Amino acid sequence: MKFTPLALLTLTLPSSTTSLLLSSAPAGTPSQVHTSYISPTSVAVSWTARPSTPCIKPVVNFGDDEIVDAVTENYDGSDDSMYSAVLDKLIPGETYSYTVGCSDYSTYSTDDFSFTVAPPEDDTSGFEFIAFGDMGVSAAAKAATANMAKDVDGKDFIFHNGDISYACGKDDVWDTWFDQVQPLQQNNIYMTSPGNHDLLPSDSAGENGIPYTKRFKMPQQYLPDDPEDAVLYYSWVHKYVTMVVLSTDTDYFEGTPQYKWLEETLATVRTPWTIVAGHKNLYCSSTYGNNERSPDGTRGNAGSLTNSLEPLFDKYNVDVFLGGHIHAYERTYPVNTNGTFTDHDSVSVNEDGVEVYTNPSATTYLVLGMAGAGHLGEEWPEPEWSAQHFEEYGYARFEFTNSSAMKMEFVANGNEDDMGDGPIVRDSMWIVKD
Ligand SMILES: *[C@@H]1O[C@H](CO)[C@@H](O)[C@H](O)[C@H]1NC(C)=O
Ligand SMILES: *[C@@H]1O[C@H](CO)[C@@H](O)[C@H](O)[C@H]1NC(C)=O
Repeated sequence: MKFTPLALLTLTLPSSTTSLLLSSAPAGTPSQVHTSYISPTSVAVSWTARPSTPCIKPVVNFGDDEIVDAVTENYDGSDDSMYSAVLDKLIPGETYSYTVGCSDYSTYSTDDFSFTVAPPEDDTSGFEFIAFGDMGVSAAAKAATANMAKDVDGKDFIFHNGDISYACGKDDVWDTWFDQVQPLQQNNIYMTSPGNHDLLPSDSAGENGIPYTKRFKMPQQYLPDDPEDAVLYYSWVHKYVTMVVLSTDTDYFEGTPQYKWLEETLATVRTPWTIVAGHKNLYCSSTYGNNERSPDGTRGNAGSLTNSLEPLFDKYNVDVFLGGHIHAYERTYPVNTNGTFTDHDSVSVNEDGVEVYTNPSATTYLVLGMAGAGHLGEEWPEPEWSAQHFEEYGYARFEFTNSSAMKMEFVANGNEDDMGDGPIVRDSMWIVKD
């Protein structure tokens, strides 16, 4: 390759614009630029330099000519050069523009990248975010991404609930995926949870969470050889909402570190709202695989998740759980006690025909595994607690209009084969609390 004339070289590369641009890009040209919350006053910036020529001095420039050195995040099996830096002493709620690059080659990002630090707890104004899981690089994933790219302006953050690229050991799929979602990451914080295809030795084809932790920087990260002992769960406070993110393929049984951390976190919530998220579901009515809530002690089984975690959700009044894993969308009514109590009394229908849950006495579960990974073709028995399900591609949009009202919409790709003449709002709900 090295000695191939440029004209031939470009012909042999995939005919995407990105590849053509990168083939002539100077050493260390940044791509895959993304950001995440680390603390109320710090944000991580991560990127990849392609062509992969190691930078001696990778840096982030932001604010008032501040320069922060980045660290190299390479791993075996990837020929990318990846970097990340944590910018601290930031002002909550403030927007910063920044560039990243290699100061040794003077190659910097030229696009207009920015992030906004998590807003302070006493800010009672409304906010919006986007959430989904199970994306990958399929045509449906690209269509969902294109719809999100038109919708992302004004969203505080994007939450990707596991099963991110489905690279499963093919590292160039991470590159394809990052190029696909760059419009979502350019000006928005991108938060993640680990899914089984990111973390579990078999389901990730040996990635074992390494690309996940090298490529995404979340508030707590510790990845030992055994992913069962990983610390990939974290929380942050976003105005009047506490967001709690679990790792549902790391042990969560009573007495485990994750369980203890979850109980401590839920017991000390100061905000009126608590949203918990994790890749696998406590409630999803699909019959697929180990998704049933049967009393199975295996980690990742919906029965063991419900048995272990539902008592905590109940005790500490978790409002909403965001799941993924099943490649579909489902919304429950407020439900607890292993599906034997459904709070229908809290449900009414507003003038737009949308169901409103007013002061619900139990947690509402959303399955958001619909961002592009192939449909599983299972059955949906429609138990009493299931309000709606669609085996369609798309994403979920959340809007808190104020500290007592949250709207959620499932924005589907659109037409029958799901490749998108949409977007179409397929389902909506409100949760309203005094
Ligand atoms: C929970 O509900 C499921 C499905 O109805 C049932 O199979 C299971 O036995 C229940 N678990 C317990 C602990 O009662
Ligand atoms: C909060 O927003 C909801 C929905 O827009 C609205 O009905 C309600 O009046 C608002 N509450 C307050 C206290 O502003």
